[in-house]
Amino acid sequence: MGPPAPRTAATLGFETWPVRCVSGALAVPGDKSISHRSLMLCGIAEGTSEVNGFLASEDCLATLAAMRALGVSIEHPSPTRVVIHGVGLRGLRAAGHALDMGNAGTAMRLFTGLLSAQSFDSQLIGDASLMKRPMERVAKPLREMGADVRTQGGTPPVQIGGGRRLHGIDYRMPVASAQVKSAVLLAALYADGETTVVGPAVSRDHSERMLESCGVRLDGDGLSITLHPPQRLANQRLDVPGDFSSAAFFIVAGLLGAAPSGLLIRNVGLNPTRTGLLDVLRRMGADIDIHARRDSGAEPVADLLVRASELRGIEMPAALVPLAIDELPVLFIAAACASGETLVTGAEELRVKESDRIAAMSAGLAALGVPHEALPGGMRIEGRGEGPAFRGGEIDSCGDHRIAMAFAVAGLRAAAPISIRDVANVATSFPGFVDLARSVGLDVRE
Ligand code: S3P
Repeated sequence: MGPPAPRTAATLGFETWPVRCVSGALAVPGDKSISHRSLMLCGIAEGTSEVNGFLASEDCLATLAAMRALGVSIEHPSPTRVVIHGVGLRGLRAAGHALDMGNAGTAMRLFTGLLSAQSFDSQLIGDASLMKRPMERVAKPLREMGADVRTQGGTPPVQIGGGRRLHGIDYRMPVASAQVKSAVLLAALYADGETTVVGPAVSRDHSERMLESCGVRLDGDGLSITLHPPQRLANQRLDVPGDFSSAAFFIVAGLLGAAPSGLLIRNVGLNPTRTGLLDVLRRMGADIDIHARRDSGAEPVADLLVRASELRGIEMPAALVPLAIDELPVLFIAAACASGETLVTGAEELRVKESDRIAAMSAGLAALGVPHEALPGGMRIEGRGEGPAFRGGEIDSCGDHRIAMAFAVAGLRAAAPISIRDVANVATSFPGFVDLARSVGLDVRE
């Protein structure tokens, strides 16, 4: 026998032990979608921008490193603060090497749009998961604009030829994707006419809000958005709100087992294109109060007080699926604890996230004894109602941060400890998750 295998990131795991309740108050780290966009847009704005509440997760740090490689000087004096010295719309420079996006689909798709309008060639690569994700969805509309974007059979590496003159297009997206919409809007900043993107349903609108703050003229109604190419982008002072998708794990934890005083989650971004989970959970009987609503720049923010609630299974309305797409793994955990059946359909996109999230959740639910049926585009789950809904066991997160954190929350209603394998990628979106979870009473051990 040779020496023992080294303990690599992929072999890290969580163990989550049953606890009676969670309580107290917490604030989750900054929004991932907004943090990526702040680096890109402030990088091509005029002058110096300041971003506070920045999410220093692996995904956003990949974007930060890429912007630096493209010639933008960025100071990062503390984890949550970045100062970006914008180079203007035409100031980016060739990186001279392939840009590594790590696990970050948002970074790869948005950079494909931004870089397809530059004067130089670029190449985008990523980790094993990202190298398998579909990129033709962004390449296709960008080619229609005149860009030279090549994928390898639909997946990365993405090769982008520079020096193309882009023209405005009218694009109907086949899927409701904010990443596709944002990639097209970033390229459209450089086009010689206006561009319209129409989605089959509403998707997150952080790009539109930030572009408008930078002085770009946009018209539209949510489903359809038209961008008028600007001369310049204005610099920003941004406060990034807490990430609703990260708060989602604690919202469900509070519903499954908050002490009578409830669980308070402060400073959560409540952009209505992100909060489908709140609507679904309330239909299931969730007791969630929204306090201190305010605006943080272009984004709405509030504090949430979550109380333990007896949830009922429901059929999730299809229109809410794109507004809760990243929260569906933890919704499935809530559904397993609700009384009666929950049905989610129309979520085929879950199959092409950081993992096949329907397959990964189904395997985990099966390992923990939850009756369910995986569907091509969703899940049917028979909830247990009161009492432990999960037996103990071992599950595989498939290297997917949201699967790992969803099952960490399941520990609140488990009969025995749950081991979660392959959790290193939690750091892509939620550095400090374990410490924060422990601070409100969850017993998650690394
Ligand atoms: C994101 C858009 C969504 C979401 C992802 C972040 C973004 O992806 O799932 O986590 O920041 O634009 P799609 O555009 O593929 O729906």
